[in-house]
Amino acid sequence: EVHAEDYGGLFDRAKVEITITDLNDNAPELTVTFLTNSIKENSPAGTVIAILNVEDQDSGINGEVTCLIPQILPFQLKKSTDNFYSLVTADSLDREQRESYNITVSVTDHGTPPLSTAMVIALHIIDTNDNPPHFSKSVYSSYFMENNQRGASVFSITANDPDWEENARITYSITKKDINDSSLSSYISINSETGIIYALRSFDYEEFQEINFQVKAQDGGSPPFSSSVSVTLFILDQNDNAPEILYPSVPTDGSTGVELAPRSSEPGYLVTKVVAVDADSGQNGWLSYQLLKATEPGLFSIGLHTGEIRTARFFLDKDALKQSLVVLVKDNGQPPLSASVMVTVVLADSIPESLSDISSISAPADPQSDLTFYLVVAVAFVSCLFFTFLLVLLAIRLHRWRTSQL
Ligand SMILES: *[C@@H]1O[C@H](CO)[C@@H](O)[C@H](O)[C@H]1NC(C)=O
Repeated sequence: EVHAEDYGGLFDRAKVEITITDLNDNAPELTVTFLTNSIKENSPAGTVIAILNVEDQDSGINGEVTCLIPQILPFQLKKSTDNFYSLVTADSLDREQRESYNITVSVTDHGTPPLSTAMVIALHIIDTNDNPPHFSKSVYSSYFMENNQRGASVFSITANDPDWEENARITYSITKKDINDSSLSSYISINSETGIIYALRSFDYEEFQEINFQVKAQDGGSPPFSSSVSVTLFILDQNDNAPEILYPSVPTDGSTGVELAPRSSEPGYLVTKVVAVDADSGQNGWLSYQLLKATEPGLFSIGLHTGEIRTARFFLDKDALKQSLVVLVKDNGQPPLSASVMVTVVLADSIPESLSDISSISAPADPQSDLTFYLVVAVAFVSCLFFTFLLVLLAIRLHRWRTSQL
């Protein structure tokens, strides 16, 4: 009310109305009424993370607000009731892709110029066991040399699990038992933590060429996930077996073990064949034959890989009746192993003659003939003793007869 009065005492009154117009001088205020800092990665879309209250002191358009998330994130704001918003997940989350978010919530009023407030909500994603252990190959194979040391590590296998902590902690084990009848566990073992595979025995290639088994990787989640993979370990051959000569064998039954060759043989006549085997394989078992020694060098030749002994020229009269050959059999390993055998060849004009000739050839010394020798010595000794006894007896008789005569 405005009162105006003159000095004469007259006055008048008027009502003056002042309207204060709102100026946009208050920024919106954001307050959190509910908040969770972490959610599980398998939470469904729409899971509530926070509930926010928005207030703006200004009025009219200056008090109207817009609330939003300025970045592109898998979250959204939902207006629930007046001034309340809930922050919810818009999609399912995967910790293996992103394990934490800083969610900015910004609120702006509609004044000119507009005022705004922002707030950052930190959210951590909790791991769930949603990934099985993964092997990079579907089948593994490797190899190692036979005659390995016991306890030697022969292979190593690893699986990956993108989960976290216990859910990613892998334990290895060998599952399928398939070596012959005995259990696999006595042949190989696996370190359950590192996946290193050890040979528990020294393997012999001649017995095992490969070992097959399954390795299982299991994580520590609850419930756990596991995967299995097939592993084949090949055992490589080493040259650990010398050639074994099957023919001619060392005679043990008193036979003479000689080969016959007619004197009239043409060059190239097949006299005999040395037969040998080698337990190794490949180059380690590939045999070659050569003549190491011969009574008459140049008279016989041997097939390098066949072991066939053939005459190299016609026999001459000066050639000895009995020909001895030493044959060396060698494998192709690194280093090579060898064996040798003596072959006796008798030259004969005809078979009956040669048979009688053979009897005059002394068989090589062996334990059997040694025994015979001792028997002969014993018999001879006993015979001598008896003969001496007879002589003494005769002498005594003679002496008595002489004295009685005298
Ligand atoms: C979130 O913010 C904090 C603090 O500023 C920072 O240390 C962290 O690295 C941020 N995280 C992400 C995922 O941006």
